[in-house]
Amino acid sequence: MAVVKVPIDRVITGHKAVREALRDTQTYSSDLQGDADVRDYRQLPLEVDPPKHHAYRAALAPYFVKPFVEKFAKDFQSNSERLLEEFFSQDGIDVVSGLALPLVMHNLGAFYGRRQDVEEWISWGPDVWTATGKNRDGEVLHAYLDRVYEEAITNPSEDIWSELARLEVDGEVITALEFRGIAGIMLAGGRDTVVKLLTGIVWHLGNSPEDVQWLRSEPESIDRAINEFLRYTTPNTAMARTTVPETGAEELPANRYVSMSFFSGNFDETVFPNPGSIDLKRERNPHLSFGFGPHTCIGNHLAEYEAKIFLQTILDKKIEWLIDPKSEISFYEGQLSSVPKEFTSLYTVKNSGN
Ligand code: HEM
Repeated sequence: MAVVKVPIDRVITGHKAVREALRDTQTYSSDLQGDADVRDYRQLPLEVDPPKHHAYRAALAPYFVKPFVEKFAKDFQSNSERLLEEFFSQDGIDVVSGLALPLVMHNLGAFYGRRQDVEEWISWGPDVWTATGKNRDGEVLHAYLDRVYEEAITNPSEDIWSELARLEVDGEVITALEFRGIAGIMLAGGRDTVVKLLTGIVWHLGNSPEDVQWLRSEPESIDRAINEFLRYTTPNTAMARTTVPETGAEELPANRYVSMSFFSGNFDETVFPNPGSIDLKRERNPHLSFGFGPHTCIGNHLAEYEAKIFLQTILDKKIEWLIDPKSEISFYEGQLSSVPKEFTSLYTVKNSGN
């Protein structure tokens, strides 16, 4: 999910306070223009408040409900098998760029009926805003979105973009700008986040062969394990809200932005005993990795299902690996120094001791 870059004045922390604030859309509004350096339109339904938010959300919900997501089991399975096979049959491949990103893109290609675009999406790297280099830039994404919208209007087919171009919200077909706002987040929201989750799974299991053994012996615990991986990796650490809704406001105070720290909620020791440790057996796991309240991630089932099939496929392969110290991983500081903040690269070596 793209980070909504705005100058933050205040951070809300702690599981209870973050959940309360996320529910209170009157005080903490999502009516804001994020990433103003790279886009001048709203990501939808992300940057709009109820009741309009509800209309967008209702129109998109059918694409993300569990029964729809689970129709793609075979595609996700064959993508996981093929890419894991390729990954473990060669040495020196980076998990982030050589396994997780291609897998997530092939999965989305199947899910959206746009397999022909997968190589192009992979070429952008995990973050679409830095696809052209180090500087943030919306060029690549916007050129793509404008192109597929044009195609969808002039030569409609059965893929996601043609369906979205015809989408009705509150009885009206969406505009080209609304298409950008919806399609942009549907493409960008499930890339770097799922990539971090899958990379975190490979990282942890490489460091803890005993957890691999345990999961192999207790396959019914996979869902619980995925929840803990979601909590521990917190792929989207925070999102912004504004105390002054921006649409039509006469004055916009500079200090209007408040950050909702999902990360602090996920490591709140009053809710998660020993939060700095990965405990795949954790019984209660109300993590905030998908947010909370009306804007709770619409792609949550998709992300969980991709991760579940990926993990199941790993467990079915009788392979053991360790983490190569040449991997570039940054960690949080202080008490959470064992928690990875970012995987720039992750390399594995075969564990010949097993
Ligand atoms: C592990 C993977 C993912 C994580 C951690 C994640 C995280 C989040 C979070 C925290 C929010 C709430 C934002 C807020 O409250 O302001 C959100 C919203 C959203 N996510 Fe995800 N996401 C993931 C995967 C996906 C996927 C796979 C898709 C779609 C392909 C997606 C699409 C969206 C959309 C459209 C929203 C806006 C929902 C709304 O405003 O109602 N996400 N995500």
